Amino acid sequence: MDIIIKENYDEMSKCAADIIANCIKSKPSCVLGLATGSTPLGTYRELIKIHREEGLDFSQVRTFNLDEYLGIGMDLSKPYEEDQSYARFMYEEFFKYINIKKENIYIPDGLTKEPEKFCQWYEDMIKKAGGIDLQLLGIGGDGHIGFNEPGSSFSSRTRVIPLTEQTLNDNYESFYRKAKIKKEDMPHFAITMGIGTILEAKQLLMIASGKKKAKVIARALQGPVTTEVPASALQIFNGKVTVVLDREAASELS
Ligand code: F6R
Repeated sequence: MDIIIKENYDEMSKCAADIIANCIKSKPSCVLGLATGSTPLGTYRELIKIHREEGLDFSQVRTFNLDEYLGIGMDLSKPYEEDQSYARFMYEEFFKYINIKKENIYIPDGLTKEPEKFCQWYEDMIKKAGGIDLQLLGIGGDGHIGFNEPGSSFSSRTRVIPLTEQTLNDNYESFYRKAKIKKEDMPHFAITMGIGTILEAKQLLMIASGKKKAKVIARALQGPVTTEVPASALQIFNGKVTVVLDREAASELS
């Protein structure tokens, strides 16, 4: 595992974007696994910059997002702050600024009427694309990756999962409070790629920033490998794992 420690959030973001850009340059038709949340915003901003200034070409890139809330979907007729779907997030923060083809974007469908069937279809599409070349990951305060909450099996596949109280609180503070959406009206379930699905990617790239991630990063990277800390699965990953942290997120590492 390579752990890269950068001075601050902006440098962490630039480093992560460079790793993703290099993946695209070496394989223009690569398959990227993408994450939402506040941590990757800077990485997406940097990738947009590389696209604009250096012509990084996304025209053959395919993307699979890790997760989506169940019960909501992108609704472009609503203002962005009222549409908390991850599909809208990806569109507003990244996809609308790059030359990716719409048909090459895969995001779990939060409005599916048949979640189980959909989850199987999503798995099949990842396989059909040849698997994920590079999976970008954030880490939740409780150690989740994607929405694989503590207790998720390391062999879990794409499925519906209830969100823990901590995740609901974290996401309420990061997103829903600003949107003036009541906590009880937040979706309490999500569709997520499983840990087994994530571990089949050829390369993993985890990013984390800020003091509030320091403890969980230390548990995930240096603590025991346990399903109670889903991100500790990175320690048993067979391929290349790169973790890019800012100084604060790295502060509890020994
Ligand atoms: C979102 C995802 C989650 C986030 C995690 C951290 O697609 O996969 O695991 O990465 O909840 O979120 P932030 O970056 O908001 O702290």
